[in-house]
Amino acid sequence: MKVHFPDRFVWGAGSSAYQIEGGAADEGRGPSVWDTFCKREGAINAGHSGEVACDHFHRWRDDVMIMRNMGLHAYRFSISWSRVIPEGLGEVNARGLAFYDRLVDELLAAEIEPWVTLFHWDYPDALFLRGGWLNRESAKWFADYTKVVVDALSDRVSKWITINEPQIFIGHGHQMGGHAPGLKLPPREFLLAGHHALLGHGLSAQVIRAHAKRKPMVGWAPCGAIEYPSTDSIPDVEAAYRATMSVVRKDCWNNTWWADPVCLGTYPEDGLRLFGADAPKPARGDMETICQPLDFYGVNIYSGTPVLAGKDGKPELVPFPPGHPTTAFRSPITPPCLYWGPRFLHERYTLPIVLTENGMSNTDWVHADGRVHDAARIDFTRAYLLELGRALADGVDIRGYFHWSILDNFEWAEGFRERFGLVHVDYSTLERTPKDSAYWYRDVIASNGATLQVPWDAAATSFQLPMGGSK
Ligand code: FCB
Repeated sequence: MKVHFPDRFVWGAGSSAYQIEGGAADEGRGPSVWDTFCKREGAINAGHSGEVACDHFHRWRDDVMIMRNMGLHAYRFSISWSRVIPEGLGEVNARGLAFYDRLVDELLAAEIEPWVTLFHWDYPDALFLRGGWLNRESAKWFADYTKVVVDALSDRVSKWITINEPQIFIGHGHQMGGHAPGLKLPPREFLLAGHHALLGHGLSAQVIRAHAKRKPMVGWAPCGAIEYPSTDSIPDVEAAYRATMSVVRKDCWNNTWWADPVCLGTYPEDGLRLFGADAPKPARGDMETICQPLDFYGVNIYSGTPVLAGKDGKPELVPFPPGHPTTAFRSPITPPCLYWGPRFLHERYTLPIVLTENGMSNTDWVHADGRVHDAARIDFTRAYLLELGRALADGVDIRGYFHWSILDNFEWAEGFRERFGLVHVDYSTLERTPKDSAYWYRDVIASNGATLQVPWDAAATSFQLPMGGSK
């Protein structure tokens, strides 16, 4: 099959503040719930934390140079709320804001478009002590913080993402307790926290539109919980669509509980029935506030689950055969999720799609020849991108792809064990080494996807052109 990516297709890579910045107490930054959570005995693998992480707070110039040499069109990063407003609300920390100001300038000078995520989980600790997302005021606090960032950056930034993966920061952070702030709340309460986060998304989107100096493009970046058909038969496709668009368990891992309010203005019927009296009781006007016009539907997709139409067309999970390929993180490798996920989400919500995250963790190290040979990541990304290309060919409006991640980084409760980067980071020396996949991705970008047609050949990758890195 011939893939064709449109001329204006955005090739990018992403990161988030707590996962790469470090400089946790530098230049007046206040603590976030992740700083606190990392101090909890046993919370994080091997007691790691994001205190130093990749030290991007000090090495951002080197990092932008690598991105430039890779030819990235765009870089998605998040702002640390408590770096900008140490107490979460009130006094603004000019030195913290200045960091992002410089970063944006450096990116623009390198002809890389900044895509700014306003909330990627590092909630200010001071506001958590006032109830965090359980407090209805949190939506307003988030909007106030949005205004500060928009005032400072929107003369140069036009791509905005409000919140990242409510499924995870509510599900893991407020229901299951494995992520900060480490709460294990019953449905009534974690759903209330979720409702306030959605309200925060809506208010934030309004603030961006009201105050941005450059015409903004506003989106969000939820998880894509994708069930895909195990065959192309119509009953299997219908069953997979139904499974992808349903709420069947009393947890946060689904699409519609979050996306229906944001894009359609209502909680889904099946979810309301399932949660019953525990479902949030929206105040007057809440659903209108949550449902703001968006310019794109950002979505993070790593893996999917195959299903078929069982009895009466009901979706049934198809187990993976023994030995099915997985990533180092043990997540099944399922390229078709990058075809069906965007297609289903586009069908239901009719917004242009942006793949805001996709990638894999791999057991990478610097080999004796000084390079990082991550053939698995190349093969993974190629297979996934070919499926994305197939969705484009079938008319799904997909505007861009952001590989997760630009750098190896602090992978939340896993600490530094999982390496997702296109660029290897040695956490003792903080040295950066672009992996084979970084060179390969550079060629994909330069050819606007044409090199995806050819299986990767290590010998043909042009390592000669230096990409940078740091000692
Ligand atoms: C997503 C997160 C991102 C990173 C990747 C691997 O759930 O948004 O920060 O941890 O997974």
